[in-house]
Amino acid sequence: MSLKRHNSFCRIEFGEGLLSRVGEISREALPDACRAAVISDTNVFPLYGDTLCASLKNSGFKVTAFSFLAGEGSKTLATAEKIIKLLAEEGFSRSDAVFALGGGVVGDTAGFAASVYMRGMGLVQLPTTLMAAVDSSIGGKTGVDLDCGKNLVGSFYRPDAVICDTDIIKALPDGIFTDGMAEVIKYGAICDAELLSELEKNAPSRPSAKVIERCIELKLAAIISDEKDRGERRKLNFGHTLGHASELLSGYMLSHGSSVAAGEVAESRLAEALGICEKGFSERLSKLLKSYGLPTELPFPIAETVGAALHDKKNSGGKIGFSLPDGKGGWSFSLLEPGQVIELLSRE
Ligand SMILES: NC(=O)c1ccc[n+]([C@@H]2O[C@H](COP(=O)([O-])OP(=O)(O)OC[C@H]3O[C@@H](n4cnc5c(N)ncnc54)[C@H](O)[C@@H]3O)[C@@H](O)[C@H]2O)c1
Ligand SMILES: [Zn+2]
Repeated sequence: MSLKRHNSFCRIEFGEGLLSRVGEISREALPDACRAAVISDTNVFPLYGDTLCASLKNSGFKVTAFSFLAGEGSKTLATAEKIIKLLAEEGFSRSDAVFALGGGVVGDTAGFAASVYMRGMGLVQLPTTLMAAVDSSIGGKTGVDLDCGKNLVGSFYRPDAVICDTDIIKALPDGIFTDGMAEVIKYGAICDAELLSELEKNAPSRPSAKVIERCIELKLAAIISDEKDRGERRKLNFGHTLGHASELLSGYMLSHGSSVAAGEVAESRLAEALGICEKGFSERLSKLLKSYGLPTELPFPIAETVGAALHDKKNSGGKIGFSLPDGKGGWSFSLLEPGQVIELLSRE
């Protein structure tokens, strides 16, 4: 199966065996590019780097490859600087392109470097995790973490193309696959009640290509209406206020997916306590997330977690911003006093 998504945001290709066709597809998407910078990490490049580089070379690209140490700890300004310096030293022009081969960490970091090098060069996202396939590779948010907060430096930068080889997603080991389920379940919880029911019916099996595509469509719909995250797109931050706070408190040792999973349950409890959401929704989400082995309890004490959430980008006037579900596939945005959040979440 190979599906092409033509939409007003960017070219998206999703299907089997696409890695070996990246060169050919990119020739169409980036007709002026001569050079390709393949940016990956130390886990992904050994698996898929050679196939990608061969495909690019066969399509006439001159290829330079660079891998950084795998993991969230590398999503830093220092790594972005290394990529930018490499591009400059190797003489890349703005019509050339970065090919980000990896999960969300590679996509966000390499995407950020591509967005600022010469004020923006070509960018192709090649997601290799479920997380990146359904979420981070699409939508044009790039960025890196600071010691004091997650994703605090970044840009909105549309990729020229997103090419997702579903054979890579199918071959993912369970632990890495599972992390992406936190985002798949997020789409069901905040955008699509039918999807949530379908996920519940089929748990804990891996979602079909059709379900993955549905997630991509839901993300596209949100970003096309609100690229800069000021309205509708904010719903996709469900679970992320407390999730990002947990990641920060762990010194970025906890994975994004596991932190967001527990954040989704806590933020649903908050919605229930505020009367925004029907009672029992947090329990439903908790059961589904648990069936995939994802954590459902915040890993740090609530007061500490709320303290860390004070660095969140959605905050305003000392209040913390939350995108909360109504339990029926809808959502609303609430700014809450830190003390109120602690009080509500401390209730049994
Ligand atoms: N920009 C956005 O809109 C957006 C959205 C969601 C998440 N994110 C970001 O994405 C990051 C999380 O992404 P992630 O979960 O993909 O993490 P990741 O990129 O760290 O990948 C997880 C692990 O899997 C390994 N890996 C990747 N692909 C593999 C493969 N095919 N086979 C075997 N191992 C593989 C990686 O090397 C890493 O060790 C976070 O930084 C998060 O903030 C960004
Ligand atoms: Zn996320």
